[in-house]
Amino acid sequence: MNKEELESGALQNEKEKQQLEEEEQVVNPWEVSAKEGGKIDYDKLIEKFGCQRLNQSLIDRVEHLTSRRAHVFLRRGVFFAHRDFNDILDAYERGEKFYLYTGRGPSSEALHLGHLIPFMFTQYLQEAFKVPLVIQLTDDEKFLWKNLTVEESRRLARENAKDIIACGFDIRRTFIFSDFDYVGGAFYRNMIEISKRVTCNQIVGIFGFVGEDHIGKYSFPPVQAAPSFPSSFPHLFSGKDNLRCLIPCAIDQDPYFRMTRDVAPRIGHHKPALIESLFFPALQGETGKMSASDPNSAIYVTDSEKDIKNKINRYAFSGGQDSIEKHRQLGANLEVDIPIKYLGFFLEDDAELEHIKKEYGAGRMLTGEVKQRLIEVLTKLVERHRRARAAVTDEMVDAFMAVRPLPNMFN
Ligand code: TRP
Repeated sequence: MNKEELESGALQNEKEKQQLEEEEQVVNPWEVSAKEGGKIDYDKLIEKFGCQRLNQSLIDRVEHLTSRRAHVFLRRGVFFAHRDFNDILDAYERGEKFYLYTGRGPSSEALHLGHLIPFMFTQYLQEAFKVPLVIQLTDDEKFLWKNLTVEESRRLARENAKDIIACGFDIRRTFIFSDFDYVGGAFYRNMIEISKRVTCNQIVGIFGFVGEDHIGKYSFPPVQAAPSFPSSFPHLFSGKDNLRCLIPCAIDQDPYFRMTRDVAPRIGHHKPALIESLFFPALQGETGKMSASDPNSAIYVTDSEKDIKNKINRYAFSGGQDSIEKHRQLGANLEVDIPIKYLGFFLEDDAELEHIKKEYGAGRMLTGEVKQRLIEVLTKLVERHRRARAAVTDEMVDAFMAVRPLPNMFN
């Protein structure tokens, strides 16, 4: 079945249509791929998932409520979609606080820049709104999906916790937990309440599991759903069953929370609100597949200055022209240029970014110069992270992960 037939209306079956669309662009918690030779179509994703675009008026409200400039990730549209974020702001305006929930599946030793994005943003939200935060380490999820032993998954969870703590979270307001250690008690009771209200057909519809998949996969989604409800954390939120939850995440996690939001009112909870980010593009460009297994497709927080320099100079896809003469004449294609994309995420100075885009787009600035600026920005970022991580001791990890009340979490 080809595209022409689809467009000419020869294909009437909705389901087949949908399947064909899915062959073109796949986004779920385990796979992100654009259609052949294309980019991720985020408008289509918003429409398909049924979330909303984050508009300027919401960003203005955030600035107003927090009395500070919005984070670059908001200003630049890195966090671009949401579900009921306006409800969170309405409640906050009335003086009702909320809590933040995010997480990480500890599948690798070292994080790359893309992994840091939700944590950098969550740290800003925590500081700006002065609210508590729970961080779930889904060591169980990675055991189920990857070829890892239980012990190895648990070890990676603790290692990753150090990188997360290095993002600057406030220990007075942050509880980090590993599923293998924390699931039980009130958390487990919520998981089971959720499980009873999701059918196998729904799970298959949302996540695309097949009959050959082991039942661990089918039973995992309630584990990621449960932290959306304050009653899963009695040591933090006892007597605060009405507390709202805001989840910052990359948009590939949306399926989990679609399921959660469907169940929430049926078990007497608010639906969690979401604020969702774009994917961080691979060095090779936004077209084609991102390859998690190719170390040259990403900058890792463990990369040395030399690694960063080499990777950017060698692999960062450039929108510049082949020859200097042509470049001076035509300018760079900023739409496909990875150094410009990366600077959009990490260069904080709006005026400088605009200047670079203008000069580079007009051919007055060369790819090499833009790459040089990016190397500086990323080296500084990675250096800062490395220093912060080195200062995180095992005792600090234990302290963040201790099941304890947080008496000052709303102050
Ligand atoms: N499933 C996520 C991952 O593989 C981890 C995760 C758990 C998460 N809970 C979350 C991510 C909440 C964002 C928000 O990385």
